[in-house]
Amino acid sequence: MTNILLTGSSRGIGAAVAATLMRESGVRLAGHGTASGVAADFADPAGPRTLWDRALAKLGTIDVLVNNAGVFEANSIDRDDASWLADWERTMRINLTASAALCRLAVCHWRERGAPGRIVNVASRAAYRGDSRDHWHYAASKAGMVAMTKTIARGYASAGILAFAVCPGFTMTGMAEDYLASRGGDQLLADIPLGRVAEPGEVANAIAYLALSAPPSMTGAVIDVNGASYVR
Ligand SMILES: NC(=O)c1ccc[n+]([C@@H]2O[C@H](COP(=O)([O-])OP(=O)(O)OC[C@H]3O[C@@H](n4cnc5c(N)ncnc54)[C@H](OP(=O)(O)O)[C@@H]3O)[C@@H](O)[C@H]2O)c1
Repeated sequence: MTNILLTGSSRGIGAAVAATLMRESGVRLAGHGTASGVAADFADPAGPRTLWDRALAKLGTIDVLVNNAGVFEANSIDRDDASWLADWERTMRINLTASAALCRLAVCHWRERGAPGRIVNVASRAAYRGDSRDHWHYAASKAGMVAMTKTIARGYASAGILAFAVCPGFTMTGMAEDYLASRGGDQLLADIPLGRVAEPGEVANAIAYLALSAPPSMTGAVIDVNGASYVR
C-alpha cells in the first residue's frame, strides 16, 4: 500500500492527480482543499503542520508527498509599498514556504522511520522562463521550489528519499482560464508550438509517474509539461 498526501486536490490539476492516483491499485490518498479533503489554509503559518498531522492520523504513515496547492495572483509594482510587500509575502508563503514546511515534515518522518519516501513538487514553467510583469513573486516562488527539490534530492538520496519537480506551462484549469481571458488567449496560444494549453490529466500523468514509478536514478529531475513553449 502506498499512502499519499496530495495538496490542492479540490480542483484543477490536483483534482486530476487525485483521479489518476485513485485508478492505481494499492494507493490510499489524503487529499487537501476546502471543497474536498482535509482543509488547511497555507496563508496561515500553522497550516502545513495542521494538514500533516491530520493526514498522518488518517493514513497512519505517509510514503509520498505531492505539493500541488498554489496561487497565481497579480501584484503590480505600482501599488503602495505595504500592499505590494504583503502580496509578495502571501504568494511566497502559500507557494514556497508551505511546500517547504511539508517537505521538512516528510523528510523527518522518513528519517525517523528509516523508510524511503518520494516528494513531487508542482512548480511552473515560470521558474525557468519568468512570468508577466505582475508576477515576479509567482516566478520566484516556483524557482524556489525547483532549487529546494534539487537540494532535497542531493541531500537524502542515500537514505532512499527521492525528490522530483514538474513544471507545467499553461494548463486548462481555473487558474489558466482567468489568465488567458485577461491577457488575450490567441497571442498566448501562438507561443505554444503544440497549439493548445495542457489538459490537467496530462500534468497528472507526469505527477503520478514521478510519485509511483519513476526510477530512483531520476531523483532531482524536473519534468516540463508545456507543449514546447519553453524548451531548455
Ligand atoms: N494552471 C496552470 O496553468 C498552471 C501552470 C503552471 C503551474 N501551475 C501550478 O499547478 C498547481 C495547481 O494549479 P491549478 O491550476 O490546478 O490551480 P487551481 O485550479 O487554482 O487550484 C488551486 C489549488 O490550490 C489550493 N489553494 C489555493 N490557495 C490555498 C491556500 N491559501 N491554502 C491551501 N491551499 C490553497 C486550492 O484549494 P481550495 O479549494 O481550498 O482553494 C486548490 O486546490 C499550482 O501550484 C500552480 O502554481 C499551474
